Amino acid sequence: MAKAVLFDELGGPEVLRLDEVALGEPGKGEVRMRVDAIGLNRAESLFRSGSYIYQPDLPGSRLGYEAAGVVEAVGDGVHGFAAGDAVSTVPSFRMTEYGTYGDAAVLPARALVGRPDGVDAVTGAATWMAYTTAYGLLVEVGGIDPGDVVLITAASSSVGLAAIQVANHLGAVPVATTRTGAKRRRLLEAGAAHVIATQEQDLVEEVRAVTGGRGVELAVDPVAGPGVNTLIQAVAPDGALLLYGFLDPAPVPMPIAPDFRGRTVRTYLFEEITVDSEPRLRRAKHFIDAGLRAGSLAPVVDRAFDLAEVVEAHHHLESGAQFGKIVLTVRH
Ligand SMILES: NC(=O)c1ccc[n+]([C@@H]2O[C@H](COP(=O)([O-])OP(=O)(O)OC[C@H]3O[C@@H](n4cnc5c(N)ncnc54)[C@H](OP(=O)(O)O)[C@@H]3O)[C@@H](O)[C@H]2O)c1
Repeated sequence: MAKAVLFDELGGPEVLRLDEVALGEPGKGEVRMRVDAIGLNRAESLFRSGSYIYQPDLPGSRLGYEAAGVVEAVGDGVHGFAAGDAVSTVPSFRMTEYGTYGDAAVLPARALVGRPDGVDAVTGAATWMAYTTAYGLLVEVGGIDPGDVVLITAASSSVGLAAIQVANHLGAVPVATTRTGAKRRRLLEAGAAHVIATQEQDLVEEVRAVTGGRGVELAVDPVAGPGVNTLIQAVAPDGALLLYGFLDPAPVPMPIAPDFRGRTVRTYLFEEITVDSEPRLRRAKHFIDAGLRAGSLAPVVDRAFDLAEVVEAHHHLESGAQFGKIVLTVRH
């Protein structure tokens, strides 16, 4: 038996319940893992409320993409992992198939990565969604070069902070946005070269000032909504705007830059890296693993809750007050 977080109907954080489930042995290509820490993502709150890119199977849906812990047992055909290995998960499955919220989980072996010595479970659980997403946005799709200026909106999110670190690691210049000035100092300390408080400053004017009037080579945006019409005006001709979320659920207008030159607007999903392409996933794993070992990539953890406090943790996730990753820790 194991503890697992389940939900039977769509709704707010209160629909989540902690229950005992029969976990069973891992099947072919699967691993059973003791879960020590779980990383929370906006994806799970959208999934729980029925607004995600796919729908849960109800009742009794599990949820969760990220966890870190120790392998307990491996199924047939699993190579490269054995009982006792310290591991983390990469989000390369769908929550309709597997879920990480619990004190143990059966997961596909292809979703596991070894956890280097010195990377604790909280760090391991806070890494792979944020950094595979940021790596794909900036490197595989965005193709940034040293010296490029990258505009990162909602930069205090776990993906935003990862993107700041990836940009700095590659010699690009991260410009961060946040809605008010409250998180400005922490964003500068986290590596942002400039911070723009969008409710207090003119985003386009500020970007022009930072880039000598040129605009940014790349903007990565999980906010969307009507703000994309402002964002496109901050992008340089030949630059790109990558949309990867909808924190603002209002309709998105078709963005048109004032001079009509050829900017790219593209949507992006982490599965383009973690599911659709083995070479991209292999490159992402190497990039992130090397960055973790070197210390240039280091997840920022906002707050850890106990597994039993999952409802409170989801409320905090939805408050927008966080700075970085929210984590659940598991007492065994
Ligand atoms: N497409 C993909 O592959 C992919 C993968 C992972 C995540 N995502 C998306 O990336 C975003 C970040 O996810 P996350 O889990 O790291 O963090 P998160 O908890 O969703 O992000 C929290 C931050 O977003 C900002 N924010 C919240 N509501 C906002 C609003 N209405 N307008 C503007 N900013 C708002 C706040 O920053 P301030 O208080 O500083 O303004 C807050 O600190 C989410 O939208 C998520 O769905 C997409």
